[in-house]
Amino acid sequence: MAAKGREHFGSGLAAVMAMAGSAIGLGNIWRFPYMVGQNGGAAFIIIYLLSAFFLSLPILLSESILGRSTHAGTFGAMEKLAPGTKWKWLGFLTVISPLVILSYYSVVGGWSIEYLIKASGSGFGEDITSLFGTFIVRPWAPLVCHTLFLLLTAVIVSAGVKSGIERFNRISLPVLFVLIVVIMVYSLKLPGSGEGVRYLLKPDFSKITPSVAAAAMGQSFFSLSLGVGTILTYSSYMKKEENILTSGVGTAAFDLLFALIAGFAIMPAVFAAGIEPGAGPGLIFETLPYIFAKMGAAAPWLSRGVSILFFLTIVIAALTSSISMCEVGVAYLVEERRMTRGKATALIFLGTWLLGALCSLSFGPLSGVKLFGKTIFDLCDYLTSNYLMTFGSLLFVLFVGWKMKKEAVREEFTNGGLLKGNARLFGFVWFLIRYVAPLVILTIFVTNLIA
Ligand code: TRP
Repeated sequence: MAAKGREHFGSGLAAVMAMAGSAIGLGNIWRFPYMVGQNGGAAFIIIYLLSAFFLSLPILLSESILGRSTHAGTFGAMEKLAPGTKWKWLGFLTVISPLVILSYYSVVGGWSIEYLIKASGSGFGEDITSLFGTFIVRPWAPLVCHTLFLLLTAVIVSAGVKSGIERFNRISLPVLFVLIVVIMVYSLKLPGSGEGVRYLLKPDFSKITPSVAAAAMGQSFFSLSLGVGTILTYSSYMKKEENILTSGVGTAAFDLLFALIAGFAIMPAVFAAGIEPGAGPGLIFETLPYIFAKMGAAAPWLSRGVSILFFLTIVIAALTSSISMCEVGVAYLVEERRMTRGKATALIFLGTWLLGALCSLSFGPLSGVKLFGKTIFDLCDYLTSNYLMTFGSLLFVLFVGWKMKKEAVREEFTNGGLLKGNARLFGFVWFLIRYVAPLVILTIFVTNLIA
């Protein structure tokens, strides 16, 4: 479809902030700490760091090349570069996958809203550790919070690329960094926090197994929003003169930095309270309110303040990500189906609300409904994190590395030869995209299948 009248991000920095906003989310604050906890601490982090730059960055650049060269959403990009071929199914897949992610992601976003309300209002009550277990099984409250979270997402997206998405990210990103640093300082000052710091810094290489390595790479994909067209779509709003290498490296660097600070905010507190770091997905929801309450006995107002800030951070971080998922579907409906932005957003809202509602209820009334032995929520999470994202990433790098002409890729990567630094690095990046990334992704795929 024609790019006429299409919106653009106002500057290179705005594009980086939007992409970093997409990347920084529940993946950094909720998923990263418990993955580290379950997979051996520092050893996991080292593989994560390596894969961020040598595996995830090439995938991110591939998506950027596809988006920026076509100025179209995922479906339109495939139509433009490979018209009339089976690649259109990749376009389709990457319109659907982010919406599946958005459905269950907004359930967790909803939990964060409920916790924020609790932290700022009545507090967490007496029975803090069982709070999470009793909250998520109730039918109504989580559903209402899920609706609220999705509504906020839809409102921002419907306001447009510049006045909605760009503006929200520009304000939120600096706020997020300030908040997480404040929480980290508080956490590091807790008595007994040193143990947690050691856990994050001292690698035990005997902990590294193929499935730990696959988990680290999977985490890196999730955290950078790869393989489902969010980066592609955001890159399509970048102007021709912007440098996709610097925006990619900037995005990866912000995301890494945020994950590490979040790790140093959460693990020391977990250890200080004597809690098992491998507690799993409930880690921040089950343990943090407890930690805040226990540690804060001496200065209740301080611990209350920090717990409000903490859940506020999670809600904002989740929103900057959820809008990027929503935008993929909206871009498709607006560009390929000629809908108005408002109508497109409403439609996406309805669809994801419905699937999300099923995910939410799958902790309570629908917990008996199982497909392949998993609840609806678990299935959505499992399918997207383990298969759709890796599969989408594989197809993106194969498309750029094998279907596109090398010269066309070089042209886009170097802005027609104008960016000399990029031109020097091109050979290496091309090698990573064409050979290294596909092979490693295939290996992860197989490891996930047999593990
Ligand atoms: N990266 C985000 C996070 O860390 C989540 C996210 C946004 C995402 N867009 C995505 C995950 C697309 C997978 C695919 O929370």
